Amino acid sequence: MTALVPTVSVALRPAEERDVARITAIYAHYVLGGLASFEVVPPDAVEIARRRSDLLAEGLPYLVAELEGAVVGYAYAAPYRTREAYRYTVEDSIYVDRGAVGRGVGRLLLERLVVECTALGFRQMVAVIGDSGNRASIALHEACGFRQVGLLRSVGFKFGRWVDSVLMQRALGPGDGTLPEERG
Ligand SMILES: CC(C)(COP(=O)(O)OP(=O)(O)OC[C@H]1O[C@@H](n2cnc3c(N)ncnc32)[C@H](O)[C@@H]1OP(=O)(O)O)[C@@H](O)C(=O)NCCC(=O)NCCS
Repeated sequence: MTALVPTVSVALRPAEERDVARITAIYAHYVLGGLASFEVVPPDAVEIARRRSDLLAEGLPYLVAELEGAVVGYAYAAPYRTREAYRYTVEDSIYVDRGAVGRGVGRLLLERLVVECTALGFRQMVAVIGDSGNRASIALHEACGFRQVGLLRSVGFKFGRWVDSVLMQRALGPGDGTLPEERG
């Protein structure tokens, strides 16, 4: 599928406190109606703000996309896992408002996230995609250089059925081709 070229330009910028309400609303829609997230109860704005602060405190990128002045999507990188040896690996999350999908917003967000995480010295990015039927997310990640590396069958149960996790991964910068400069 070919993404439509956005009719107006999409602006990317770091998320700010004032964006929390929009981020909360965008995410709530997908928690309540989809399988991409394994959360069942949408977190409120206080919780979304807390999660964002935690990521910023670790120096990780948290981006929003604006279309005609309105926030229509967001993406952030989080530690893949917290144990120390995972410190060069991040996990991405990306959500685009249902009214703005299919216009290239997700791709712009994810490409920028890859660039920023590479510049920060991370070496691998992992996507843990809820539902093997999530064609949009799988296609988006493939378009951004990710390859499927695993499938965890039926590790979720939501809306009365078992749900898979699709694991996708891409190298950042030199990946494992060189040793890292020590971080943390
Ligand atoms: C997944 C999601 C972020 C994609 O955002 P988007 O702005 O619609 O994606 P884009 O328009 O930038 O498309 C990116 C690529 O994916 C493809 N794609 C997007 N939606 C698709 C679909 N439903 N089916 C097949 N391919 C699709 C596009 O063709 C494009 O590929 P191309 O650039 O090679 O043409 C968005 O659909 C979303 O928020 N979904 C719900 C939440 C979710 O699944 N998030 C991911 C959690 S890991």
